[in-house]
Amino acid sequence: IEQSAGELVASRIATIPDFPEPGVTFRDLTPVFASAPALHALATGLTDPFAGRFDEIGGVEARGFLIAGAASALTGAGVLTVRKAGKLPRAVLREEYDLEYGRAALEVHEGELAPGARVLIVDDVLATGGTVAAAARLVERAGWQVAGISVALELTALGGRAALGDRYEIFSLLQY
Ligand code: PRP
Repeated sequence: IEQSAGELVASRIATIPDFPEPGVTFRDLTPVFASAPALHALATGLTDPFAGRFDEIGGVEARGFLIAGAASALTGAGVLTVRKAGKLPRAVLREEYDLEYGRAALEVHEGELAPGARVLIVDDVLATGGTVAAAARLVERAGWQVAGISVALELTALGGRAALGDRYEIFSLLQY
C-alpha cells in the first residue's frame, strides 16, 4: 500500500519529551530532512495544494529554508529568502514579531521579486503564528502577494491558525 506524503513524513519525525524544557514535547524534523524520500514527500505535500498558484517560495530562516529549497527544485519556483534581522546586505523591509520572551524580526530585500509576484510562504512549524504572520506582512509591504502559507507541522494548541485569521489560505501537512 502506498504511503501518503503525510504518513511518510510523520514516520520520520522524532518526538523528544521535555525539550528544550520540562513539559514541552519537541518535534524534530531532522530525520525528515536526512531522508531523500521523506524530504521529497514533504516538499510535494506542501506545494501540491497550491499548484499553479505561486511564482516563488518564501522560505523562513532557518528550517523553512530547507523546505523551500527542496520545493523549489520540485516546482521550478525560486526562493524568496526571509531572514532573521541583520543578515541581508542590501535595503530591507523589516517586521517584528513576538517570541515567548521578547521580540524578533524578519527581513526581506526590497525589490527582490517582480511587483505582484505570488509567494507561497513555507516553514517547518506553525505554533503561535507570529513568524509566518510577519513573513506575510513583509510580502505584502514589498508589493507581492501571499499565495498561501504552508507548514509541515501545526501545533494546534497554540492557536496559530486562529491568530492568522481568514486572510490567508493555510495548509499544514500534519497536526499535533
Ligand atoms: C520556529 C519554527 C517556526 C517558528 C514557529 O523557529 O521554525 O519558524 O518557530 O513559531 P511561531 O508560530 O510561534 O512563530 P525558530 O525561531 O526557532 O527558528 P529556527 O528555524 O531558525 O530554529
